[in-house]
Amino acid sequence: MCVYEITGGRPLAGQLTVQGAKNSVLPILAAAVLADGESVIHNCPNLSDVSATLDILRLLGCRVAREGDTVRIDASTLGDSRIPDQLMGEMRSSVVFLGALLARCGGAELSYPGGCELGPRPIDLHLTALRALGAEVREEGGHLLCRSGRGMAGRELCLSIPSVGATENAILAACGCPGLTTIVGAAREPEIEDLQAFLRSMGGQVEGAGTSVVRVLGGKRLHPAEHTVIGDRMAAATYLCAVGAAGGCVCLKGVESGCLTAVLSVLKEAGADVQGEGDTLSIACAAPLCGVRTVRTAPHPGFPTDAQAPLMAAMSCGTGTTMFVENMFLNRYRHVGELARMGADIQVDGRVAVVTGRPLHAAQVRGTDLRGSAALVVAALGAQGKSQVSGVRHILRGYQSLDGDLRALGAQIEKKELPAGTH
Ligand code: UD1
Repeated sequence: MCVYEITGGRPLAGQLTVQGAKNSVLPILAAAVLADGESVIHNCPNLSDVSATLDILRLLGCRVAREGDTVRIDASTLGDSRIPDQLMGEMRSSVVFLGALLARCGGAELSYPGGCELGPRPIDLHLTALRALGAEVREEGGHLLCRSGRGMAGRELCLSIPSVGATENAILAACGCPGLTTIVGAAREPEIEDLQAFLRSMGGQVEGAGTSVVRVLGGKRLHPAEHTVIGDRMAAATYLCAVGAAGGCVCLKGVESGCLTAVLSVLKEAGADVQGEGDTLSIACAAPLCGVRTVRTAPHPGFPTDAQAPLMAAMSCGTGTTMFVENMFLNRYRHVGELARMGADIQVDGRVAVVTGRPLHAAQVRGTDLRGSAALVVAALGAQGKSQVSGVRHILRGYQSLDGDLRALGAQIEKKELPAGTH
């Protein structure tokens, strides 16, 4: 088993270029199947979720080649529209292939993505949107069978929750539907704008991403294109919280500061000196973070649920009291029990967690989901002594080199292989 061994209490310093965004690259790779030819994606992070997506593309018959941060996908050889259970099980977000395959092949077959470590994650909104566009969707023995049936056509859709995945699936499917699709109540995340940018460079007529109304004039054949993925705002938020926990002065490049307004304003309120201009973010923390007004997770541009755990870790080793309200996912406080092993004072009642900052000490802790595991690394950087954080396989789903990046900033962190059963 792999763990990170971290000696905390050392301030971080230096400059870092943040990896490409996981949540952008996954739907963009799926969108590459819409073109009959080779698309080229730059700034593609090297993550296990990306490898799983490339495996799906290969299985569908695409030719895929990776060289450094650049991935080439030739979808002219696409021959299949079925995704086997094992690959679906690896990554819930592969559900975004539904819309892309419907648009390209007029059908898709994949297994139902069940619950995940964050609690139940339904896809009812995805299916309602696809059905509204005319897709026939059957659910049989844990499988989803989608066909364009008597023909799909653009129309107005209304999402009752601004779901990121449902918005992306609807946009991708709408690219294959003749006529105008209007998605009302769309999610406004920057990653959806990035998907729109790629589709437009493929000749797609998509507008409105970043607002709650997205319009797609579909039915036109798309051509292959070249695209550079935006920087990962969740990785950036993690590094900002790491500085909040350990102290120091760090400059991050490659992420638009406007994508992180909610996170930056909380860190400022907590006493950090945060500056954001264009694609450069800087943070300096001379003293531990202090308690702030209630942090409520919400769809973009609200406070992102993915930054909740890393921020909570930083606040745990600060001073004062902060209340968190997790509005997006039911089971997103799994890091709390592990933070308590490091001495954190956190009281949870349903969706609410009340954190009172105090000095943390080192411990052996176990990460059970992506951002929760990253949060334990953040806490270990702020704790006195040598901690061991497991859950590295979760971290590798979303961070290309969390340990390498933090080492570059002066952190004492090593990846270690332990014999099974020793943690
Ligand atoms: C995406 C992000 C994830 C982030 C989340 C919320 C990717 C690959 N993942 O996940 O990192 O934490 O947005 O910002 O981009 N819902 C339904 N029915 C549905 C779909 C969603 O009820 O059919 C609910 C979910 O349970 C959740 C809320 O809507 O409470 C938002 O989820 P959604 O935006 O769909 O998250 P994902 O796209 O899965």
